[in-house]
Amino acid sequence: MSQLESCYNIDDFRAIAKKRLPRMVFDYLDGGSDDEVTLRRNQDGFSKYQLLPRVLRDVSNIDLSTTVLGQKVDLPVLISPTGQTCMFHHSGEKAVARAAAKAGTIYSLSSVSSTSIEDTAKASNGPKWFQIYVWRDREIIKEFMTRCRESGYHALCLTVDLPAFGNRERDLRNGLSFPASLTFKTALDGLSHPRWLYHYLTATNLDNANVKDSPQAAGTGDNLMEYAAKQFDPTVNWDDAAWMIEQWGGPFLIKGIVSAEDAKRAVEIGASGIIVSNHGGRQLDYAPSTIEVLPEIVKAVAGRAEILLDSGVRRGTDVIKALALGATAVMIGRPYLYALAAGGEAGVDRMFELLKSEITRDMALLGCTKISDLTSEYITSY
Ligand SMILES: Cc1cc2nc3c(=O)[nH]c(=O)nc-3n(C[C@H](O)[C@H](O)[C@H](O)COP(=O)(O)O)c2cc1C
Repeated sequence: MSQLESCYNIDDFRAIAKKRLPRMVFDYLDGGSDDEVTLRRNQDGFSKYQLLPRVLRDVSNIDLSTTVLGQKVDLPVLISPTGQTCMFHHSGEKAVARAAAKAGTIYSLSSVSSTSIEDTAKASNGPKWFQIYVWRDREIIKEFMTRCRESGYHALCLTVDLPAFGNRERDLRNGLSFPASLTFKTALDGLSHPRWLYHYLTATNLDNANVKDSPQAAGTGDNLMEYAAKQFDPTVNWDDAAWMIEQWGGPFLIKGIVSAEDAKRAVEIGASGIIVSNHGGRQLDYAPSTIEVLPEIVKAVAGRAEILLDSGVRRGTDVIKALALGATAVMIGRPYLYALAAGGEAGVDRMFELLKSEITRDMALLGCTKISDLTSEYITSY
């Protein structure tokens, strides 16, 4: 049995990723901010809800397909944007985008990806979104919009929970730079993972790909906190977000909302979607777990925008809980990165296969056959 076949859940991929990656790379993937309280609570939050099954229903045909911002997806699990994906496996963003397309779902590319907007689009013709961080140089945003239009990206997603970079002490201790570069310390770490190091030295492209032609914005081997402080604009406000929505003129999501007040404001300025997210516990520690704030956000938005949720989704039952509480779909970050590190594109394929079969089995056990069946009648909190 191959290593991937012996993976039955996300934790199994995580265990392999931990062995395969140098410590500084695994910690960047796995870690959170400060004391990692929000990181832990993201998963714990789901355990505060229980599911209420109905029985003796014909569940022989389960359909996981649904529609997200006008696009049909074959399962309600989308790919959240993550920076520098080639760090985790040399096949990087292209492999994840292809796996997402095969699974029939949407791939989101990060502003700080290691594969460019254009190269990712060429690698996969599946549906794609592009995530925006706002550089101090606003021309970069305009340029991103033009490039995304030309490359056929369906939606833009503005991340708003990074006005300052989270305090990720694991990265500081490990000396992680941005884009990642080898120093004496990190080379030693790499030497104990020769397969990773080989790809790093030969094939991996760890550029800040979308801004690599702008020497100022591309990064100079600072640590991540220094890079973000120098490059990202902390003055960004609701007027700027409204300006971007108008400039783009298509589906636009705001990612990183955890309060009903902000969700309402996002709807008022014309966002078509809200991603309830705390950045996977990597930004403000003690921000609430997303599943706990979802009900009040659903109430505040009252159907005026679509609501997605990420941060802590690991199981089919997590997906079902979020949908039963009113989310259109969920998104995942670390799960696909663990799977990518564990087995490249085949790892991400296997992860989607497992998630699909978990959701399908859980829906059958719950007595539901289609996504629209998942309502608040099936969930209670402890
Ligand atoms: C390694 C890593 C890099 C990330 N990079 C970005 C990014 O560039 N832009 C962004 O909006 N979110 C980024 N995120 C946050 C994810 O989009 C997502 O919100 C988070 O991973 C969801 O939590 P989960 O990992 O528990 O699924 C990153 C997360 C991880 C783990």
